[in-house]
Amino acid sequence: MHGLNKISTSDERAAMLGKLVAPVLPELEQAEAALARHLTSHYAFIQTLVRHIERFRGKRLRPAVLLLSAKAFGGEAPLGPEVGALVEMIHLATLCHDDILDDAATRRNVATVNAEWGNKAAVMTGDILFSRAFEILGRFDDPRPNRQLSRTARLICEGELLQIASRYNAGLTEEEYFDIIDKKTAQLFGAAAELGALMAGASENDGRKLFVYGRRLGMAFQIVDDCLDLMGVETTVGKSLGSDLKNGEPTLPLIHLLSHASGAQKQELQRLFAPDNHDLTRENLRRYLEAAGSVEYALGVARDEIQRARDEIAFLPASTARNVLHDLPYYVLARES
Ligand code: IPE
Ligand code: IPE
Ligand code: MG
Ligand code: MG
Repeated sequence: MHGLNKISTSDERAAMLGKLVAPVLPELEQAEAALARHLTSHYAFIQTLVRHIERFRGKRLRPAVLLLSAKAFGGEAPLGPEVGALVEMIHLATLCHDDILDDAATRRNVATVNAEWGNKAAVMTGDILFSRAFEILGRFDDPRPNRQLSRTARLICEGELLQIASRYNAGLTEEEYFDIIDKKTAQLFGAAAELGALMAGASENDGRKLFVYGRRLGMAFQIVDDCLDLMGVETTVGKSLGSDLKNGEPTLPLIHLLSHASGAQKQELQRLFAPDNHDLTRENLRRYLEAAGSVEYALGVARDEIQRARDEIAFLPASTARNVLHDLPYYVLARES
C-alpha cells in the first residue's frame, strides 16, 4: 500500500510477527490454550459458532502486548496468559458485533458469523464471548483486570455507537474521529499494556505509562486499518474492505480530503458522500485521495503516534521484551493484514 514499506507476502508478515513475539511464545501458547478451553459448548450449534471464532485466528496482538509488557517489568505474572486470553476474547466479541454493524462478509479470510449464520446468531455469539470473559474475570482475587476490562468494553461500545452517529457527517472533525478510534480500538491496547505491567509488579505510575504506550499504538493501528479499508487489497487483508465508505463512516483520509477540497470539487465530494449514493466507492474516491495526499497525511499521523508511543517507554530498562515493544509499532505501520 501507498507509502508503507511493503512486506510482500503473508508468509513474510507472519514470520515478522512470529519473530517479534518469540520472547513470549510459551506464555502466548498458554493464552491460546486458555482461550480454546473457554470457547466450548455442550450444544452442537453453539460449539460450531464459538469454534469458528477460535479456529480462524487473528494476529493475537493484544495478548502479545500484554505479555510483552509484563516481561518488560521482569516480574512473574502468573495470571498473564489467562488475562491475555480474556483480552482476546473481548476483542473477538467486539469483532463479531462489528461485522454485524458493518455488514461485513469476510474476516480472517473466511465468512463472518453474521454472513454464515445470520445477524441474530452473531449478536448472541458476541454476547456469549463478552459474558464468558466477565464471568471468569469476576473470579480472580485481583480485581484490577475485571475493573479495567469492564470499563474498556463499555468504551468500545460507546466508540461503535459514536461511529454510527457519525455516518454521513461530512463535517466530522479530526478530534471527533480521534475520540471514536480511541474508544473503539486504542483503549483495549492501552488496557492490555497496563494490565501486563501491573500484574508483573509495576508501580501505578509505570502502569500508566504503559497504558499511554498501548493507547498510542492502538490509535496508529486503527488509522492504518482505516487506510487499508480505502486502499488495501481484500484478499491480502483477509477481510471485507471499503466498508467504511459503504456505511458512510468518515475516517482520517476522508476527513482530510473533505476539509482540503474547495469549489466544484468540494461540491462533487459532498454529492458523493451521501446515503444511498452508489458512486461512493473506493475506485471513485481514489484519484481525489491521491491528488490531495490524504492517505499519506493519515499515515503521517500514525507515524507520529508511533513515535510518541516509543518515547513513552524509553524509561524501561534494557531487555528483549522492551526492544520488541519498541519494534512492534513498525510492524503495525507496515502491516497489510
Ligand atoms: C481488527 O483488529 C479490528 C481493529 C481494531 C482494526 P486486528 O487486526 O487485530 O484483528 P485480528 O484479531 O488480527 O483479526
Ligand atoms: C474496529 O472497527 C472494530 C472494533 C474495534 C470493535 P473496524 O470496523 O474499523 O474494524 P475492521 O476493519 O472491521 O476490522
Ligand atoms: Mg468492521
Ligand atoms: Mg466497524
